[in-house]
Amino acid sequence: MKHFLDLTDWSSQDLRYLIRLAQQLKLEWHSGGNRPVLAGKTLGMIFQKPSLRTRVSFDVGMQHLGGHAIMLGPEEIGLGKRESIADVARVLSSMTQGIMARVFAHSHVTELAKWSRVPVINGLSDDSHPCQAMADILTIVEHFGYTDGLRLAYIGDGNNIAMSLLRACAAFGIHYRIASPEGYELPARIVAEVSASHPALHIDLLRSPADAVQAADIIYTDTWVSMGQEDEAAARVPAFQGYRVDADLVARAEKHTIVMHDLPAYRGKEITDDVADGPQSVIFAQAENRLHAQKAILVSLLS
Ligand code: CP
Ligand code: NVA
Repeated sequence: MKHFLDLTDWSSQDLRYLIRLAQQLKLEWHSGGNRPVLAGKTLGMIFQKPSLRTRVSFDVGMQHLGGHAIMLGPEEIGLGKRESIADVARVLSSMTQGIMARVFAHSHVTELAKWSRVPVINGLSDDSHPCQAMADILTIVEHFGYTDGLRLAYIGDGNNIAMSLLRACAAFGIHYRIASPEGYELPARIVAEVSASHPALHIDLLRSPADAVQAADIIYTDTWVSMGQEDEAAARVPAFQGYRVDADLVARAEKHTIVMHDLPAYRGKEITDDVADGPQSVIFAQAENRLHAQKAILVSLLS
């Protein structure tokens, strides 16, 4: 059974195919609508954390493709509390054709996949957000027309977004730089794993945001406090001072540099309003592309 739990599960060639499929589905949608290739199919959506983009893009994506999605919030199924993950996976996969799950521990999506008889899609875990990374690559391809050889500078926390972007950059030939404060770097095991599986990867692990954005084509940032880390906010917010993507930092890059953020943005913290709403920002194109990237993943796994 093929799942979409992390970008490492798919080859670079398969991920590039998914991006082309997303472009086709986007064009088809804007040319009168998608063909109902998922007619009669149901996606079960498990959410242990809040969501706007992921929930709406999967639900609307299923509708556009002729299918249907069911929302299962934290109070409804109590994943691993009211019922074991194995039992949830077995029951849900007897009634649906796919499961999308947003969880805390990454092991919860791998456990779902272990017991499920239908494909499981990771809609964000503490370790990765592969669907977001695919929408990000789609946005980069639309903007630049290619990915190989571009330079991406990620400013901030070495979190789920930073880890999935690293895997995406490795698969799409993008030079990856990250500037993080001490104690919030990318986990060394991820850097070692991705470097070993992609010997051609260019990666720079830096401390200074100003150094990271030098000659960057893309500046990317994310929240300093991810979902589930709310108790750490008092320590995190001071640690990330100096890691804000503001007009001064963007001016150190190139005129053609684009600014990306997966959203939700904590404006005034990791990104300023003038940058988020400025001419170099593509954040809302990125958000819309969640819909088109999700459709490609759904069609490829469920049809
Ligand atoms: N970027 C993203 O996944 O947004 P949501 O948390 O709103 O789904
Ligand atoms: N790093 C953020 C991403 C939100 C889409 C979080 O996990 O909360």
